[in-house]
Amino acid sequence: MTPSGTEQFIQALQVAFEKGSLHKCTLSKPVKHAGSDLKNVYLRPVQLKKGLHLAFNFRYKTRDEVKNYLLEPALEELRNLLTNNFQNADLLTTERDFSLKISGNGKELFSQQKASQKDVPVMSHNREKQRLIDASSPWLYHLGITNSKGEVLAKSQDKWRQINKYLEIIQNLNAQTPLPKEPIIADMGSGKGYLTFALYDYLFNQLELKPQITGIELRKELVKTCNKAAENSGFDGLHFEALNISDYHPPRLDMLIALHACDVATDMALAGGIHANANMIIAAPCCHKQIRKEMSTQNELAPLLRHGILEERQAELITDGIRALLLESEGYQTKVFEFVSTEHTAKNVMITAVKSGKAVDKRREKSLDQIESIKSGFGIKKHYLETLLSKKK
Ligand SMILES: C[S@@+](CC[C@H](N)C(=O)[O-])C[C@H]1O[C@@H](n2cnc3c(N)ncnc32)[C@H](O)[C@@H]1O
Repeated sequence: MTPSGTEQFIQALQVAFEKGSLHKCTLSKPVKHAGSDLKNVYLRPVQLKKGLHLAFNFRYKTRDEVKNYLLEPALEELRNLLTNNFQNADLLTTERDFSLKISGNGKELFSQQKASQKDVPVMSHNREKQRLIDASSPWLYHLGITNSKGEVLAKSQDKWRQINKYLEIIQNLNAQTPLPKEPIIADMGSGKGYLTFALYDYLFNQLELKPQITGIELRKELVKTCNKAAENSGFDGLHFEALNISDYHPPRLDMLIALHACDVATDMALAGGIHANANMIIAAPCCHKQIRKEMSTQNELAPLLRHGILEERQAELITDGIRALLLESEGYQTKVFEFVSTEHTAKNVMITAVKSGKAVDKRREKSLDQIESIKSGFGIKKHYLETLLSKKK
């Protein structure tokens, strides 16, 4: 007996999954009497630590939910959805396209055509670049980076590159200094939340940690939007608070993030991370006004710094260089490097700091001497981070 259309469809998906040729599967046209606000389900292969899974992205009217299944339970879930919830199903593989249509009276039409999608599927071994998050993740859609098909919008390409670069940095840092299973993280000056969501997604879905991430942001409307998007994405451990960074004093942090927080907001965040004894600190500074205003250069660079643009660049260098030295004086090992290419953003310096665990006294003395000498050469009285650190001592 020929299997039913539903069974043929499920079998085609199973074969494609096992061969590594599955691109994606979309369930659409929900049956009216199903009594749920489920609009679509998108399936795709996803490589997790526990092996290759099928990710089901359930798109409801006002929220998305993602569940990952091993093959057997995935096929069971698909059968259940085709029997009770949807009338159309499309399966794209690199070999054939398959389609299933179920009419109101239960008649099933299974068909196949030439493959419309020749790209290597996301999980195959020879794809060009292993992304650390998937463009079809619902939060990217909620935050306006992708369209409803999970395609990155033209206007968001730079942001998308930045997100991926950021996660590569996190991946490397975590390989050297692993985060605990349930890391407590603050992202200060979280703005529209792109990088905060990316971090949560990566830690939760790829590293399978249980992060508690708090985004701190002055602008109430952004906090509201981000909290709603976190709820809609089912990110239980992610929330945002409308606060000034200087008023946020977590008792303990494993990781402190401050990306493009304006001027001295970066210093407030760094001080917060140091005081909360964060093991890892990641900062991408923004503008550097405080030091620029204080500078009155009295060293051999003075004739060069008559030019505004050069003085501005020197101010950046001093601000971030002293930040790194102050972090070292507090027992951190630091790195300063280019975050993303200047072609994509001018704010492209990143400072990472990891607790060294070594005795700090000698290093501390040396860093503080170096800071004093730099400050005197440029006529600077105090770096704002120094002021904040000395207040708590
Ligand atoms: C340029 S955005 C960067 C957003 C995000 N971190 C990113 O890199 O995409 C800087 C954000 O920091 C927020 N901010 C600046 N100073 C702050 C402060 N003192 N407390 C809380 N948020 C602050 C701003 O409102 C803004 O949304």
